[in-house]
Amino acid sequence: QAALPEGYTVRPLRANDYERGFLKVLEVLTEVGNQTKEQWLERFNYLKQHNHEYFTIAICNDRENRVVAAGTIFVERKFVHNNGLVGHIEDIAVDANQQGKKLGLRIIEALKYIGAKKGCYKVILDCSAKNIPFYEKCGFTQKEYEMAWYV
Ligand code: ACO
Repeated sequence: QAALPEGYTVRPLRANDYERGFLKVLEVLTEVGNQTKEQWLERFNYLKQHNHEYFTIAICNDRENRVVAAGTIFVERKFVHNNGLVGHIEDIAVDANQQGKKLGLRIIEALKYIGAKKGCYKVILDCSAKNIPFYEKCGFTQKEYEMAWYV
């Protein structure tokens, strides 16, 4: 397992990560929106009530008390594979100024560990072609194609 640089901590998402810039970190992915604290708490509390299947983790820069990286694994319950479980990795984001320090790798390792501990027989994700080398370094191999339909 990759070690975190000194002064960084990996841990589950916290209610007050709103103030620690969690949503700002997600902006490296896509448009996030301008959620109020109330809207943030509505979503945070939903995830908390479903914390047997939703796991969002964050890496914090301790000195600055700021979230610098984040990721989620969602555990899907199937009938196939004998009521098997599949982990879906989503929304991996590392602050633009903090990329290349193995924080992304560390997030993925932690999410893979959670998926394995929860009993998933596989963990999958969708990514752009440009991120394939990153996920290969994280131990993933390319399989199938992503399809999308936008409402
Ligand atoms: N091409 C080639 N190699 C790469 C790339 C890349 N685009 N990105 C990382 N790597 C390599 C690194 O060089 C490193 O290799 P090494 O171990 O040989 O030194 C290894 O992958 C681990 O890299 P990290 O330092 O952990 O990468 P980082 O912390 O920058 O995180 C990430 C990578 C998550 C892609 C980050 O750059 C990021 O947030 N990008 C913008 C948002 C994004 O694209 N997120 C992923 C969306 S897909 C999803 O969420 C399922």
